[in-house]
Amino acid sequence: MGRSPIPYVAILMEMPTYESPYITQSSHPLIEDAFTQSDYAINITDSMGAMVKVNEAYLRLYKFSSEADILGKNHLFIRSPITPDNLYKNMWNTIASGKVWRGEMTNCATDGSDVFIHLTISPIRRGGEIVGYMGFSINREQQVLMERQLFHANKLVVLGTLGAGLAHELNNPLASILLDAEFLRDFLKGAHRAEYQEAASSAAESVIRGAERMRRVLEHLLFYSKKDSGTATSTISLRQLLDDSFLFIERQLTSRGITIDIEMDGEYFVSGNRTQLESVIHNLLGNSRDAFSPSTSTAKRISIRSYFVEMEQLVRLEYWDNAGGIQTDVLSRIFEPFFTTKGGDGTGLGLAISKQIIAEHGGSIECESVDGTTRFTILLPATRLPKS
Ligand SMILES: Nc1ncnc2c1ncn2[C@@H]1O[C@H](COP(=O)(O)OP(=O)(O)OP(=O)(O)O)[C@@H](O)[C@H]1O
Ligand SMILES: [Mg+2]
Repeated sequence: MGRSPIPYVAILMEMPTYESPYITQSSHPLIEDAFTQSDYAINITDSMGAMVKVNEAYLRLYKFSSEADILGKNHLFIRSPITPDNLYKNMWNTIASGKVWRGEMTNCATDGSDVFIHLTISPIRRGGEIVGYMGFSINREQQVLMERQLFHANKLVVLGTLGAGLAHELNNPLASILLDAEFLRDFLKGAHRAEYQEAASSAAESVIRGAERMRRVLEHLLFYSKKDSGTATSTISLRQLLDDSFLFIERQLTSRGITIDIEMDGEYFVSGNRTQLESVIHNLLGNSRDAFSPSTSTAKRISIRSYFVEMEQLVRLEYWDNAGGIQTDVLSRIFEPFFTTKGGDGTGLGLAISKQIIAEHGGSIECESVDGTTRFTILLPATRLPKS
C-alpha cells in the first residue's frame, strides 16, 4: 500500500513563515529595482508621448548620462531620419486604440550612431482610460551584425556554385580569343596580308566579341560579390526603388514605343540592399525590352502593380509584359545560371542572381506565362504597413 499524499495545506503549515518586510507596503521596492536594473531598455511616457521615466538599460542604449536629459521630452527625440513617418503613424494608431504595438526600428543614440531595436509598446490604462505607454526595447545590434555576416557568407556559397558554370562560360570565349589572336599575330608577320585581310578582320571581331562576353559575365559576378554593395541595408520605399530602377533604361523602353504603367495601392517599404533590389527590377525591364519584337502590331506594355498582403505582412509586386511570353521548355529554365536565349548578347545570369537576391531578402520570385504575356510575382517582407 502506498503512502497517502500529504495534503498541500499541511505542507504549508509545516513551513516556517517568512515575514517579508515589503509585503505590506503598497509599492514594492523590488519593483523599482527590477525596473531600474532590467536588461530590457524600458521607457514610460504619458499619454501624449512625453517621457516620464526610463531605466538604466535605456540610458545605456542611447548613451545618455542621466535621466534628467530625457524626462519631459517627446519620445521622438531619439528618432533616426531613416525610420519613416509611416512607422510612427502606424505605431500611434495602434497604441492609441489600446492595442500593443511590436516592431523593429532604428533610433539614434546621443553620439549619432544608429541603434537597431525590437520594440514592444503597451498602453497603460487607469479606469479604462489610457494614461500612458510603456516601451520595452531589445538591442538588435548583435543580431543585425550576424545577419549581415550570414548574408555575405550566403553570397560566397552562391558564387561557389556558380563557379563550374563560370569556368565553362569563360573558357569558350577564351579558347576562341586565343586562336584568333594567334591567327592575327601570324597574319601581321606574314607576306600575304592582302589575301587574308577579310579573315583577319573577322578574327579581330571575334576577339572583341569573346572579350566583351567575358566582361559581361564578370561584371554581373563582381557586382554581386562586392561586399559593400551586399551589406548596406536600409529601409527602402518601393516607389523610390521602382523610380530609380527606371533611371537608365526608361529611354530605351519609351523609344521602342513601350508604355509603362505603375499602380500602387499604398506606400510600401522593404528592408534591404538598394543596389541589389534595383538590379532585380532593372533586369526584368531589360528582359522585357529584349523580348519585344520591333515589328509587333499590338501595343507594347509593361505593367507593375503592388499590393500589401496583410496576413503575411508581405509586399507583392506583380511585373507583367505582353512581349510574346515564354515557351514552356524555356520557362522551366529561366532561373538557371547561364541560361539565355539571347546567344552572345545575354549572360543568363540576370534572373539567377535576381532569385538569389530576393531569397536573401527573405522573399520569393516566380514566373508564369500565358497567351503571349509574362508575369513575374515578387514577394518581399514589408517592413512598414501601408498608409492608413
Ligand atoms: N519578359 C520576358 N519575356 C520573354 N522571355 C524572357 C523574359 N524574361 C526572361 N526571359 C527569358 O529568360 C532568359 C533568362 O533571362 P536572364 O535575365 O536570366 O538572362 P538574359 O536576359 O538572357 O541575360 P542578361 O540578364 O545577362 O542580359 C532570357 O534569355 C529569356 O529567354
Ligand atoms: Mg536579363
